[in-house]
Amino acid sequence: MGTVARAYAAVAPVYDWIFGWLLHRGRARAIQVLQLQPGQRVLEIGVGTGISLPLYPREVRIHGVDISPDMLEKAKRRVARRRLTNIESLRVMDAHALDYPEATFDAVVAMYTITVVDDPWKVVNEMRRVCKPKGRIVFVNHFRATTWYHALWDRIARPAHRAVHCRADLDMNEFLQRTGLRPIVCQRVNILGYSTLLCCLNE
Ligand SMILES: C[S@@+](CC[C@H](N)C(=O)[O-])C[C@H]1O[C@@H](n2cnc3c(N)ncnc32)[C@H](O)[C@@H]1O
Repeated sequence: MGTVARAYAAVAPVYDWIFGWLLHRGRARAIQVLQLQPGQRVLEIGVGTGISLPLYPREVRIHGVDISPDMLEKAKRRVARRRLTNIESLRVMDAHALDYPEATFDAVVAMYTITVVDDPWKVVNEMRRVCKPKGRIVFVNHFRATTWYHALWDRIARPAHRAVHCRADLDMNEFLQRTGLRPIVCQRVNILGYSTLLCCLNE
């Protein structure tokens, strides 16, 4: 088991208690900006405990992947408990090498995951590859602080970031420049706008 999967094996039992409510608004808003139509197919990378899954419209087909079997186990139990019949698959998979053909999904989403993966650039390339042209690619994440109060919170939250293997220094402008993604929506979300929602078209 790799470092990230080990970290999340430890965190899985308490993840929802800590990060469920704290990051909820960002998840809900991310699903809203996808503007999903009935029958569309969505991939969520780093789906974790599946906390976002009940938020998707029931007419949309969802596939989730995560590198942590422990987090996914919780997601599977949630799907069974909530009878989420639109969740078509939950697979242990590394987002650096997605096991899907090109242009499989209408939308691809990464919620609080792009700063946890080892190589965000490689993961974005994979997200783009499996997303249909003009499909939506959505991120909700904390990027490098640009205000004193976000920087202060970063310092306070450092132990929590470390526990979930999350870096707090990914610069959003550099991220957009290097990936070549151009957001059609860029919006602060969550408490005090700590996270940013980015919705981009796969051009
Ligand atoms: C901070 S959690 C976010 C979970 C969930 N998306 C949420 O909204 O709370 C990050 C998730 O990314 C997963 N992850 C980290 N690296 C990954 C990789 N290379 N491939 C797939 N999933 C990965 C972790 O196992 C974890 O479940």
